[in-house]
Amino acid sequence: MTEVDPSTAERRTFAIISHPDAGKTTLTEKLLLYGGAIQNAGTVKGRKADRHATSDWLTMEQDRGISVTSSVMQFPYAGRILNLLDTPGHEDFSEDTYRVLTAVDSALMVIDAAKGVEERTIKLMDVCRLRDTPIVSFINKLDREGRDPTELLDEVEEVLKIRCAPVTWPIGMGSAFRGVFHLVHDRVHLFSPRHEGGIAHGEIIEGLDNPRLEEVLGADVAENLREEVELVRGASHEFEVEPFLRGELTPVFFGSAVNNFGVEELLSTFVDYAPAPQPREADARVVQPDEEKLTGFVFKIQANMDPQHRDRLAFMRINSGRYRRGMKMYNPRTGKTSQNVSAATFMAREREHADEALPGDIIGLHNHGTIQIGDTFTEGEELRFTGIPNFAPELFRRVMLADPLRSKALVKGLTELSEEGAVQFFRPLEKNDLILGAVGVLQFDVVAQRLKDEYKVECRFEPVNVHTARWVEAEDENELERFRKKAAENLALDAADYLTYLAPTRVNLELTQERWPDIHFSATREH
Ligand code: G4P
Repeated sequence: MTEVDPSTAERRTFAIISHPDAGKTTLTEKLLLYGGAIQNAGTVKGRKADRHATSDWLTMEQDRGISVTSSVMQFPYAGRILNLLDTPGHEDFSEDTYRVLTAVDSALMVIDAAKGVEERTIKLMDVCRLRDTPIVSFINKLDREGRDPTELLDEVEEVLKIRCAPVTWPIGMGSAFRGVFHLVHDRVHLFSPRHEGGIAHGEIIEGLDNPRLEEVLGADVAENLREEVELVRGASHEFEVEPFLRGELTPVFFGSAVNNFGVEELLSTFVDYAPAPQPREADARVVQPDEEKLTGFVFKIQANMDPQHRDRLAFMRINSGRYRRGMKMYNPRTGKTSQNVSAATFMAREREHADEALPGDIIGLHNHGTIQIGDTFTEGEELRFTGIPNFAPELFRRVMLADPLRSKALVKGLTELSEEGAVQFFRPLEKNDLILGAVGVLQFDVVAQRLKDEYKVECRFEPVNVHTARWVEAEDENELERFRKKAAENLALDAADYLTYLAPTRVNLELTQERWPDIHFSATREH
């Protein structure tokens, strides 16, 4: 094995996690500003559909030029190459978000200083914990009245079960917000709200004892700050790299994303300490990023921007080796080798064709229905990366077709949309029904619209008596066969032909599980 390629070591592949409205979009924009990818804040548009009505979401999704390019943004900063993976903000698309989180090496968590830890953040942290993803925290909106910083850190520690190591500490809040003190560098960064969208450089005062503090903050505020810093230093955790990399401790920064304040401090610590591309677990072995041969996995599939060509883009994270334009790649699931003449890479500004891509990078493969979420690509090795989940849907509808002659097109459309992860689809063993399952209700609307636009199929959805779904397996083939016969009326096949139990009620599921102790009922299925 060779030394880790310095270009691989400089990669930082990450996502921003937050509850809607905490400031993810604003922070993304500021990161791009520092990365030189945009000149002026206010340029990243169309990413806020999360909070809007379905119709807006659809319009925005159709405006694929924006959504595709912005789902992966690569930009340089301080000698590093950052790959920022966007996560859909709307909770109806949380499955997509979970899968994106399997493709990052670290995450930036944004918390609203007035609201503290919110529900989505808790869920996203649970997902990060599955792989012990290192987390850097940013407490945002200090320019508004918020909660006491110590109380916020306590809440993060208690609710999210991660130790907090403040790296900066706020001086005041709301209208009295004056800046932050950098606990590690021992310097004060003064807040200057005038930035006109560009990079702001407020005054920096070296040393907590500097008399300049009295001049600019006044004697009381300066004195207060010294006392507070002493308290914080005594009472909170110090930043240490090892526990951070194990996902046990998070460095915390305070600031105001919209005012572009505190972002540079965050970013510079982030690029220094966030991990470079990490080893990845596969079924056969662990793959190291410095291996020579290419490996990667597909974590997301998205309809392409050009409605004339119904091809879809498969987003592959490279785990080892090097992608070169035109190289052949092997898919162990299908046993097929294909040549990828032109994969796309994602600069923050536009989509370009990649000549080369390294571990940590994301490339877009053109896909005509042969690639599925969770697929691994190698240079020939039989190997599959693990841990890319499918979640049991919580909402179900029966699909009613307007024109029975379009039923083949319907099944094709539903199969392809399931491969994309847009929805899940089940065919009961005993009935000629098509049942759709989704995690969020918006997914149904999107599917109906896309079936109409892309497959020329008009359908409507009806309520169906399904409460939840579980994928079923058993070590003993005979036992599974017995179950298959006995429970056939509630069994179905999903789009990838996995056997699934569709339970009409929670009680029914519990009773069935009790009655069949040797059958495994699983709420997640790995792709
Ligand atoms: P999201 O992607 O996490 O959903 O949040 P987004 O960045 O869209 O921010 C949500 C709202 O919070 C926006 O206001 C944004 O301007 C505001 N915001 C972000 N950072 C700060 C901050 O540091 N201080 C204050 N006071 N506000 C902040 P909006 O009114 O909903 O949208 P807009 O019209 O301002 O764009």
